[in-house]
Amino acid sequence: MAQQLAVVTGASSGIGRATAVQLAARGWRVVAVARRRDRLEQLAAQAAAVGAGEVVVEALDGADAEAVAAMAARVQERYGTPGAIVNSAGAGVWRWPEETPPALMEELLDAPFRSAYHVSYGFLDSMLAAGSGVIVHVGSPASFVVWPSSTGYSISRWALRGLHESLLQDLHGTGVHSCHVLFGEVTSEYFEVNPDSWEHAPWLGKLIPSITPSEAAEGIVRTLSRPRALVLHPRVLRLQFGLFRVAPGLVRTLARATGRQRST
Ligand SMILES: NC(=O)c1ccc[n+]([C@@H]2O[C@H](COP(=O)([O-])OP(=O)(O)OC[C@H]3O[C@@H](n4cnc5c(N)ncnc54)[C@H](OP(=O)(O)O)[C@@H]3O)[C@@H](O)[C@H]2O)c1
Repeated sequence: MAQQLAVVTGASSGIGRATAVQLAARGWRVVAVARRRDRLEQLAAQAAAVGAGEVVVEALDGADAEAVAAMAARVQERYGTPGAIVNSAGAGVWRWPEETPPALMEELLDAPFRSAYHVSYGFLDSMLAAGSGVIVHVGSPASFVVWPSSTGYSISRWALRGLHESLLQDLHGTGVHSCHVLFGEVTSEYFEVNPDSWEHAPWLGKLIPSITPSEAAEGIVRTLSRPRALVLHPRVLRLQFGLFRVAPGLVRTLARATGRQRST
């Protein structure tokens, strides 16, 4: 059987890195995408040292459409069509709208949204021709319930959710699946890279027990073998979504009332 191929973005850190490690450990060839080459090379060396599946380094900015298109062409020529894409590249500080000038908004849209769009687009033709494959988008509960002072962060996650919902409709019956995987807090470097964020999360979000990047990656790997449109992890998040489905206004109010308040 041909070696399975996965493209994982955000592979230099956190959820993406842990997913790349777990897929390589299962024998997948993993194309690891992120901007920091040194970290990706470290990951590739680690996989080679333990005799896991090969990790192919692709150091690039997911927001750069041309660089992503060139990467997709290279990967398909050398290794064929991926069976999985995991869009885990993401960044973004939490700010009030009046603290979010257009240049910052553009930056916040770069990842996850632009990166996920460019990478998915780059492989869609060949996945459609193969009639199989899973595209996982690593999203946030903020793509359903926005919390105060997270304008650009939330808009980028809503855009990612929009990409997923569009693919869900348009790929129906093609054999290619789109999955939106949401977590509560994950103990990655995210909040070091994007300081002044988690401390402003609403109390509702802080009720969700945190999980490690490895636990998040396990959820993603499970989703690749059993694709579902929406995956919520951990269980408390599922309970909160249940409440959101029956009383969306109440959950929005709770998020607002228990989140960051404007200083007067
Ligand atoms: N941590 C949490 O609590 C949590 C919870 C729910 C959802 N999420 C979402 O999950 C995603 C991943 O978060 P994480 O916790 O794994 O964060 P992380 O540890 O900070 O990792 C983010 C990854 O994204 C990459 N990245 C950022 N911008 C990029 C760009 N323009 N092009 C290519 N790669 C880019 C970073 O690599 P380089 O800097 O090397 O490019 C890094 O590998 C985010 O969208 C986040 O919102 C996180």
